[in-house]
Amino acid sequence: MTSSEWAAVDRYIVDSLVADPDSEAALVANAAAGLPAIDVSPAQGKFLYLLARTARARRVLEIGTLGGYSTIWLARAVGAEGRVVTLEFAARHAEVARANLDRAGLGARVEIRVGAALDNLPGVAEDEPEPFDLVFIDADKINNANYVLWALRLTKPGSVIIVDNVVRSGALVEEESEDPGVQGARAAIELLDAEPTLTATVVQTVGAKGWDGFAYAVVNGENDE
Ligand code: SAH
Ligand code: DHB
Ligand code: MG
Repeated sequence: MTSSEWAAVDRYIVDSLVADPDSEAALVANAAAGLPAIDVSPAQGKFLYLLARTARARRVLEIGTLGGYSTIWLARAVGAEGRVVTLEFAARHAEVARANLDRAGLGARVEIRVGAALDNLPGVAEDEPEPFDLVFIDADKINNANYVLWALRLTKPGSVIIVDNVVRSGALVEEESEDPGVQGARAAIELLDAEPTLTATVVQTVGAKGWDGFAYAVVNGENDE
């Protein structure tokens, strides 16, 4: 299979099951604002939505908002009484995301905190005493392990932690890689393995965005293996 075939299958999946005007409008606005097209793909966005619904997530933390494309899917999943806190370094990205979320009618359930996530996470911990049910990590990859540690602090047994972009066209297996994205992915995966309160796997993906994958972890409780 070639990447053009992966993209063709993605188009078929999106046409059949994902097509959705509100989230597509966000992608149009992102492009108009000059944001990089590094959002999750539509099929992945809907998958995030389904994962959040399966987990019955009411409280979601996202690290890395960009234009709020993934945020739209997560905000839908938490329902009208739910809440999404999303952290974004670039003020311009956060502005575009705010407009996209408001246009989609989801603005009231989403808080965007602007700044470096590691600077904002202590404030999130202080202001959000209730644990998050799902954390989606998709920002600067070099900090992935730090974000997993924060996610652990901010969740409870049964919560889900997802780390985007860990396979990186297969570069994940390059032990000596100097690519910060690969180093961040490997550090996160080592932590997911070493941390006894987490059980994790990685799912590889192909599609419109080429070959990548995400790590998926659940926070263990007292009665879990
Ligand atoms: N989750 C988005 C894509 C995020 S792209 C989606 O799928 O639609 C990664 C984002 O992380 C970019 O907007 C970038 O500005 C932001 N980012 C980079 N470093 C960051 C940091 N230290 N703290 C918070 N956000 C950061
Ligand atoms: C990049 C970041 C992402 O979160 C992603 O899904 C794809 C690419 C990047 O920084 O290039
Ligand atoms: Mg990503």
